[in-house]
Amino acid sequence: MIRLALRVAREDAEIALAQLLELAPSGVEEVDAGDWVEYAVYGSPGELPDLPDLRAAVGGALVEVTTSELPDDWSERWKDFHKPLVLGDRLAVRPPWEPSQGTAIELVIDPAQAFGTGSHATTRLCLELLLELADSSPERGPAVDVGCGSGVLAIAAAKLGWEPVVAVDYDQLSVDATIENAAVNDVTLDVRRGDLRSETMPAAPTVLANLLRPLLLEYAADLPEPPRRLIASGLLVHEGDEIAAAFAPHGLRERARVERGEWCALLLAAD
Ligand SMILES: C[S@@+](CC[C@H](N)C(=O)[O-])C[C@H]1O[C@@H](n2cnc3c(N)ncnc32)[C@H](O)[C@@H]1O
Repeated sequence: MIRLALRVAREDAEIALAQLLELAPSGVEEVDAGDWVEYAVYGSPGELPDLPDLRAAVGGALVEVTTSELPDDWSERWKDFHKPLVLGDRLAVRPPWEPSQGTAIELVIDPAQAFGTGSHATTRLCLELLLELADSSPERGPAVDVGCGSGVLAIAAAKLGWEPVVAVDYDQLSVDATIENAAVNDVTLDVRRGDLRSETMPAAPTVLANLLRPLLLEYAADLPEPPRRLIASGLLVHEGDEIAAAFAPHGLRERARVERGEWCALLLAAD
């Protein structure tokens, strides 16, 4: 197993991450060191993105590329890295090898598959806002998870009572992981493969969109029917206002904003 790490200048990190996720849609590890940010992908030599593709994608932002062979007990150490996400006594997301956390709702997600173990701040912020939405609006109804990754948000929504829940991703691995995770967590999802850059996404009154800024702007520009409530995540703190403004013409106003480190997420609503 190889760890391939790219260090990029902090000011270019957002663009670099957006490009990297295109080449490694199942997710990248992020190490924030202040002046620079390191993004790492794991895989056997044949599975990793090609170095020239990576260099081209990250362009002038690149500071350094390193590769390291991981020790034999890597898979056990990797398990240590993935700890459960616990939101009070209400919701937990845990890998299959961790014990139950005793929360009202528990999701079991295998981090080997696709982006969205709950450990990333952007996913966590979405789940916090989803719980807030569940508390503040008794009505549920249909929901769509745009860019579903592992399906973590769609599964949480289904467990909180939204129905039917559609989960869309352009990456086949994410689609497969979401189907498998829905079965493991005993919920029914309508999982579809679709690219929001070239297709109009399914409409629903509640939309969960943990995407990066450029994709959220494209989504705002090609909104099917405006949702009544939208949770938008994957934003750096300074991007919050721009994304709120992009959805304002659709009648959505900011109801809540949560932040964690450099990331923020918005709850936008029509009422
Ligand atoms: C930041 S991850 C979010 C995953 C999960 N929803 C979560 O909250 O953890 C973004 C997801 O969007 C998907 N994605 C990226 N570009 C897309 C596109 N053009 N159309 C549809 N999905 C896309 C990626 O494959 C990835 O699974």
